[in-house]
Amino acid sequence: MAMANSAEELVFNPPELVAKNAHCSSMEQYREMHKESIKDPEAFWSKIAKEFHFENNSVGKFFEYNFDITKGPIFIQWMKGSRTNICYNCLDRHVLAGKGDAIAFYWEGNDPADRNSVTYAELLSEVCQVANFLKSRGVAAGDRVAIYMPMIKELVVAMLAVARIGAVHNIVFGGYSADSLCDRIVDAGAEVLLCADGVWRGNKLVHLKEIADEAMKMCSSRGVEVRLNVVVRHMTRVTHPASLHDTSNGHPAKKTHFDHQVTWNSDVDVDWETATSSSSSECPVVWLDSEDPLFMLYTSGSTGKPKGVLHTVGGYMLYAATTFKYSFNYHPGDVYFCTADIGWITGHSYVTYGPLLNGATSVLFEGVPTYPHTGRFWEIIERYKVSKFYTAPTAIRTLMKYGDEPVKKFDVSSLRVLGTVGEPINPEAWLWYHRVVGGGNAAIVDTFWQTETGGHVITPLPGATPTKPGSACFPFFGISVCLLDEAGEEIEGEGEGYLVFRQPWPGMMRSVYNNHQRFQETYFQKFPGFYTTGDGARRDKDGYIWVTGRIDDMLNVSGHLLSTAQVESALVEVEQVAEAAAVARPHPVKGECLYCFVTLKQGEKFTEELVADMKNKVRSKIGPFAQPDYLQLAPGLPKTRSGKIMRRVLRKIAVGDRDFGDITTLADPTVVELLFENRPANA
Ligand code: WT7
Repeated sequence: MAMANSAEELVFNPPELVAKNAHCSSMEQYREMHKESIKDPEAFWSKIAKEFHFENNSVGKFFEYNFDITKGPIFIQWMKGSRTNICYNCLDRHVLAGKGDAIAFYWEGNDPADRNSVTYAELLSEVCQVANFLKSRGVAAGDRVAIYMPMIKELVVAMLAVARIGAVHNIVFGGYSADSLCDRIVDAGAEVLLCADGVWRGNKLVHLKEIADEAMKMCSSRGVEVRLNVVVRHMTRVTHPASLHDTSNGHPAKKTHFDHQVTWNSDVDVDWETATSSSSSECPVVWLDSEDPLFMLYTSGSTGKPKGVLHTVGGYMLYAATTFKYSFNYHPGDVYFCTADIGWITGHSYVTYGPLLNGATSVLFEGVPTYPHTGRFWEIIERYKVSKFYTAPTAIRTLMKYGDEPVKKFDVSSLRVLGTVGEPINPEAWLWYHRVVGGGNAAIVDTFWQTETGGHVITPLPGATPTKPGSACFPFFGISVCLLDEAGEEIEGEGEGYLVFRQPWPGMMRSVYNNHQRFQETYFQKFPGFYTTGDGARRDKDGYIWVTGRIDDMLNVSGHLLSTAQVESALVEVEQVAEAAAVARPHPVKGECLYCFVTLKQGEKFTEELVADMKNKVRSKIGPFAQPDYLQLAPGLPKTRSGKIMRRVLRKIAVGDRDFGDITTLADPTVVELLFENRPANA
């Protein structure tokens, strides 16, 4: 390794231990496989498809698509006509092969005292019980089922049970508010909800059932009746956070049964345990077409209304499984730990589907990285001898703040591959991850992808790719990366532009649920013939790809994608607010945070109380993670004569940079200086 000033010059070769038994162990092999996957996708993916179960061995019409909107509607199909089921491939296939006793998940609760594990065979029988119960209550193939749960085994069981009977899961992250949950239930037209009563996140209690009840009331007023809510009584079986107990006043140091009160509506609510434990633990799978929907997952859209990203069974299955195998160089015997919540795409593809399709053993973690201490991740890695670990840059930056000590307290020498996802990783965090967590011997894989892509699309391969800190390196198999300039001209060699892909891959989204028009407009309109990611990227002189971040009105707070429009529409719901403009400001831990400018209605005062109301509005409309860090009173906003807010100027003001660039096209350029002078004291 040669030290140099720029991360571009810093190259780390694949660690020997990893390269020794890698599925892909050299750049020559990578290039060859990548070339085949682009030139002859059918040959490439049909070899992989053979490892999975397709009913009657029929792999249908392999690959058909239109990527060019000027030639007609966009469509993408893989293996249409072949029949399969992802739950069967995740569970039955392994159990039938005699691997039923293998551990599928080690579960680690929020409190380190709460731990258990589940085998593939046990998972299968629980999935069948839930699937049978859902069938008995009229849930059929194609129905949408909403899921709102913490990181517990039942969440995995729920999604697989839904998939087993051909229904479509719509998982809503447990950190979302009632409003957001309601939006997602209504848009999906889900009549059935699977949830839990609550969860401890560190010392904080989240009343999931209460939020779900509120959401269902809102749904009802919007014409969607949730007729069944199956509730896991989780709170009664977990340890009450010890720190909330004051032993001096007679409380036990640990209280295992917390009487968490939930309201119960017997017309709708049923207890998970009672409902499912008496069902049969065998349930035939429903064979689906490869192109039938598997799930929808909502992601922010630049208009403010979230989009139901739709994935289908066959292609998603091949892609989740293959990316998991190669990006983490998965081998039997590995213990894998992904810290993402299943409520996000990372959890779908790399907590549930990717690992289970490979028959892997994983850790399912309910808690947070800093509870009860800042070494919690490292403690878990030591306990289970985790060899492959996957987390987010924001978590790494949070933990870095506590220095090397919390890592050094634990034996993390089992680690071989360390992944990151969610946002660009800064070289300092990359190097700390490599040096301190990986002890210099682990491969770092910075995986770039999106809810829409289903799985990794740009990533190093641990045994093959020499890595550069901060670069996601090279395209995965099947991904044809292009950089385009504003005019749509391809940038060859070194340069920076719009990151787009030239041809489909099996795991990509097929549509926006109920809105194919929006799918086409969002991803295929700007550059006909290409899928547009919405990110910018640079290719360096060695061909490495450096994703630079969103170039639309989206921002990334701690790995959560948000649109500025979504935040603005929440702010203007506050009675006193006339207009709002939200921009991203770099943040040392979160990556980006929200800086909002608000104009008040005539006569209204910018009081502390109002600021609190505005923050609460955003929390309740979207979720706590979306709360703005800065709110500034704006007597006016910098607008062009046509009324468009000039956001690049607001971004400059947010960071206190006077280099505004050309502001002569503004209707009133004086407003810029005024805003700059009145930046809040904490900014
Ligand atoms: C957006 C997608 C994919 C799972 C988590 C987020 C950003 C994601 C990286 C990375 C740079 C990244 C992009 C992307 N992003 N991974 N390794 N390097 N940027 O899923 O919510 O759909 O967000 O996250 O901006 O477009 P998502």
